[in-house]
Amino acid sequence: MRKQIAAANWKMNLTYQQGEQLLQEILDAKIHLKEDQRAVFAVPAPYLTMAGQKLAGSKNYFASAQNCYNKKSGAYTGETAAEMLKSIGIEFCVVGHSERREYFNESNQMLFEKMQLCLENEIAPIFCCGEPLSIREAGTQNSYVETQLKESLFDFNEAQLQKIVIAYEPIWAIGTGKTASTEQAQEMHAHIRAVLAKQYGNTVAENISILYGGSVKANNAKELFSCLDVDGGLVGGASLVAKDFITIIQSLK
Ligand code: 13P
Repeated sequence: MRKQIAAANWKMNLTYQQGEQLLQEILDAKIHLKEDQRAVFAVPAPYLTMAGQKLAGSKNYFASAQNCYNKKSGAYTGETAAEMLKSIGIEFCVVGHSERREYFNESNQMLFEKMQLCLENEIAPIFCCGEPLSIREAGTQNSYVETQLKESLFDFNEAQLQKIVIAYEPIWAIGTGKTASTEQAQEMHAHIRAVLAKQYGNTVAENISILYGGSVKANNAKELFSCLDVDGGLVGGASLVAKDFITIIQSLK
């Protein structure tokens, strides 16, 4: 059975103290996660150790990195290697967020390399894909996302692919308050699953978690997560408010 995941992406927000307090408030809610449910917190790199330690005692709660570099180690000032994440016990890493693709020119090939290093270090990548508004308006979003999947994922074998979580984040819905409709989300998630099924077979595709991201809020999470192929969400703004993210975790199937 595939995992249902509520993933917070704090992006470049909150001080250490604010982050610590936010995690504490969420933990204080004592939400019991079922066997197949996960709450994941992608926090800024300087807070990873704190977050990892704070969440360690709660079953199915995990800290995640927001990014890692596509090289194993070396003279890359300011970057973080997957091996470093592993050495502090991190088990998830967001890869290929649209903000990284856009502001840091991350290519599909580079994202493949990052995920390869994550997998070598037993870190589950949360691989982001999704189309800009111009592509949605032209109606070519399916082939656009298919290319992202093919170029970043299809060199992985079946066993590797099964460790990857996919997050569909239409760029026009990120931080805009303009959420994809449940029909739009379900349609794309089903398409992503079909693309994976064609390459890897139905069983593999059925076991991959596909999260929706883009203006997920406390008041729309339940409806979005109820879609057949939506296995939770990757949440920006609403993950910075304890009571909102608590509601979002509680909205998991
Ligand atoms: P918002 O939830 O703020 O729209 O951000 C979505 C996102 O980019 C999560 O990675």
